[in-house]
Amino acid sequence: MMDAFDRFGLLINDRVVRTPVAIASMAGIVDADYVLGRADHIGLAFIGGYSIDRPTMDAARSIVSSGNRREFIYDNPVTALQEQIAKMGGSDVILGVNLRGSLPESFRATAHALGSAVVYEIDAHCRQPEMTAAGCGEYYLTNIGKLVSAVLALKAEGVTVSVKIRAGVAGDDRLLAKKLWEAGADILHVDLMDFGTAKLRQIRNSCPLMLIANNSITTFDRMKDMLSHGADIVSLARQSDARTLAGLDAAITRYADEEGWYNAPKQLCRGGDIRSLAFCCMPVKECPLIPTLARINMPREDYIRMKMEGVNGTPLDDGKQTCFGSLAWCCKTSSPCMFRDMTLKHVGLSKKEYMRLKRDLSDTIVSRVFHDVSPDKRS
Ligand SMILES: Cc1cc2nc3c(=O)[nH]c(=O)nc-3n(C[C@H](O)[C@H](O)[C@H](O)COP(=O)(O)O)c2cc1C
Ligand code: SF4
Ligand code: SF4
Repeated sequence: MMDAFDRFGLLINDRVVRTPVAIASMAGIVDADYVLGRADHIGLAFIGGYSIDRPTMDAARSIVSSGNRREFIYDNPVTALQEQIAKMGGSDVILGVNLRGSLPESFRATAHALGSAVVYEIDAHCRQPEMTAAGCGEYYLTNIGKLVSAVLALKAEGVTVSVKIRAGVAGDDRLLAKKLWEAGADILHVDLMDFGTAKLRQIRNSCPLMLIANNSITTFDRMKDMLSHGADIVSLARQSDARTLAGLDAAITRYADEEGWYNAPKQLCRGGDIRSLAFCCMPVKECPLIPTLARINMPREDYIRMKMEGVNGTPLDDGKQTCFGSLAWCCKTSSPCMFRDMTLKHVGLSKKEYMRLKRDLSDTIVSRVFHDVSPDKRS
């Protein structure tokens, strides 16, 4: 039986995320009690949204008095949040707090008061007119400089930062992702609205942030689709009932134990993201690999060297009988291949172990693409 880190390889705030299923915030609804009632089926939860300064607290009261929606109402946000955090004390669910703030200083002061044990999620998502007029929620997606300032203020407190966005609101979600990454954000939590997996892949290809995909992900098929296009975790809000969460948790755990890489990308030529380079061949023909290397400004020789160095000393180095002489260039196990499978048998590697080694290779590739290439050369 694998432990959760072996199975999913997910760490947030130096803690292992038990399963890549999360609860997304719903103001006035998702608090510690809501999460604790579902804790057996999730790895991460964002309680809130909580308003943390005068303009946003006034906006919350105004929303409630109009009778349209529920909100968490209190006089002192720090005390209210401390109570919630204390309730979650004994739980192995990683806790995030979804915050509505109108100034960087509001975020900084809240993080200073609450400490680094929770993830701070900036709500750049809410589109209630009262909130956007207060200068938070979706307002941030058209005022990206201010969003970046809020991230910087939180990072100055040394805490883990997630940014919750709605896809398609900022002019260019790829540029937004890149700016948030460069500002030091750790997690991008994306409500994909109706955009689907193409949008997710674009964001995956723009930054190495941990990605949480959100919106109507209520079946395992939809969850797998998100994971194979770049998501590390999926989150649910409206349908975050225990039954749905338990079904997704059980299905992804079984899938990870059988396949070895729970969020393996599709092959690049079948719509895969940057991680798919782990499965790509030598650059010997005109195929999607060539424009991908051009987009990331990576000469073919560097790509070949990167993969060969990435498998050096591992069982993937083997494979004289395969198309390109090494398992480094071999396809996903979902593509049938006698030559690869003969090599795996010869070196005593199960398909699951093969996929886990490909996951390691993909981590090396992603870190090379995003961290070793100078910022001005990033696409
Ligand atoms: C009643 C309600 C309240 C919400 N409040 C918040 C909030 O405070 N902060 C936030 O970032 N998202 C909020 N959301 C958005 C959800 O977290 C989620 O992004 C959205 O509902 C789509 O996901 P789903 O299809 O799983 O519900 C709210 C959604 C609903 C339905
Ligand atoms: S290198 Fe191979 S796997 Fe990659 S895109 Fe080209 S044909 Fe597909
Ligand atoms: S040997 Fe099989 S798995 Fe490896 S690259 Fe060739 S076709 Fe793909």
